[in-house]
Amino acid sequence: MAERLTAIRRATPGDAASLAALAARTFRDAFERHNTPEDMALYLATNYGPARQSAELRDEGIVTLVADAGDALAGYAQLREGTAPDCVLGPSPIELWRFYVERDWHGQGVARDLMASSLEAAAERGAGTIWLAVWERNERALAFYRKCGFEAVGEKAFLLGTDRQTDRVMVRAL
Ligand SMILES: CC(C)(COP(=O)(O)OP(=O)(O)OC[C@H]1O[C@@H](n2cnc3c(N)ncnc32)[C@H](O)[C@@H]1OP(=O)(O)O)[C@@H](O)C(=O)NCCC(=O)NCCS
Repeated sequence: MAERLTAIRRATPGDAASLAALAARTFRDAFERHNTPEDMALYLATNYGPARQSAELRDEGIVTLVADAGDALAGYAQLREGTAPDCVLGPSPIELWRFYVERDWHGQGVARDLMASSLEAAAERGAGTIWLAVWERNERALAFYRKCGFEAVGEKAFLLGTDRQTDRVMVRAL
């Protein structure tokens, strides 16, 4: 079990390489067993890598928060501005786009702290509603988001490589 305390902070451009590695690793840990190697490889190649995360960190429509654990990262969250699905009805919505914690840190409060900072950052940007899309079979994440006050309001397609999957759309007022 990991032992050092974590602190949540805004990511900087210097985090691009470690964020890219963390993002790919946590995505693989979460979904590898449910998908073909080909679909995983395609998704990983098109979504993660130092250049891609570097561009995200420079994008003013994206907020990236990381959880520091000593000299490593224990998790990260990203908020993204953009169009919300029709089932998101609240005012001024913002998307909680990615939310991932390293396996060793599950169940230890990192996710709770990362969520608190994400909600705070969303409110600071003037959002009145926060929404997310989570795979319908990701029971632990669904339970975590419910615990954080999110409510399922609809569905959205998600393409993992070539596989079309169904995400639940969840919302929470800010
Ligand atoms: C989703 C995630 C951020 C939640 O963080 P966490 O530290 O695991 O969350 P918690 O342990 O506080 O809460 C999870 C809740 O799920 C439930 N739970 C625990 N294990 C479970 C399991 N195997 N199956 C279903 N539900 C489970 C419990 O209700 C638990 O809350 P409780 O212990 O307070 O009762 C983390 O598990 C994670 O990063 N998972 C992999 C990546 C991922 O799926 N990200 C979301 C993408 S949308």
